[in-house]
Amino acid sequence: MTERIVRVLETFTADRTTQSATEIARRAELPSSTAHRIVGELIGQGILERDDEGRVRLGMRLWELALRGSSALRLRQAALPHMERVQARIREHTQLAVLENEEALFLERLSDPTAGANITRIAGRLPLHASSSGLVLLAFADPDLRERVLAQPLRPVSAETVTDADALRALLASIRRRGHVVAPGSIESVSTGVAVPVRDHGEVVAALSVVLPRQAPTTEPIEALTSAAAAIEADLGRMH
Ligand code: PHB
Repeated sequence: MTERIVRVLETFTADRTTQSATEIARRAELPSSTAHRIVGELIGQGILERDDEGRVRLGMRLWELALRGSSALRLRQAALPHMERVQARIREHTQLAVLENEEALFLERLSDPTAGANITRIAGRLPLHASSSGLVLLAFADPDLRERVLAQPLRPVSAETVTDADALRALLASIRRRGHVVAPGSIESVSTGVAVPVRDHGEVVAALSVVLPRQAPTTEPIEALTSAAAAIEADLGRMH
């Protein structure tokens, strides 16, 4: 039963936030009657909700339960004031991401209304080898995980995504040395991602990034991100 409920919940993605019960059944590969019953029960518990058009979406109650006391919330709370400072200074997009099941999962994104292109979504994911945040998370990840990711087929997201394992190994080593990455065009040709690691008690737990227009200068963003990461680290050190 639990497995079927999870399958139902997992049919919702960052890009597919509302669905009919019939669509859920097909995507969860469940018999229609089973899916309709599970959807009905989850709506009864507030885990799913129906919108005005009768389509189904994830419920506020699920959001509430998921955030309560989660490590992601603690990290987001520590990071947010410092992300706001980066955002006020750079005026593009500022993101916070964690490593989740071999992908970068984005906990927060702040964007200026006039900022350039950015495909990052809150609660959305990007590949580790392609995004600036992912590259930082991969650079400081457990070596076993790093080699496992590099041994897999590395799909290009744009024409400029680095997909050669040896080239990536060299890039990851340079990220560990320099403490930041500048990834021009790796996700979209029009953008450059810049990211730094965020540590909690010495261990890298997140990546802080900005997404800039491709030709934008990167010196000030690197400086803003590095000092924000240090401030987040100091605040996390004081939190329990
Ligand atoms: C990045 O992190 O490198 C990145 C993310 C989203 C974009 C562009 C670049 O749209």
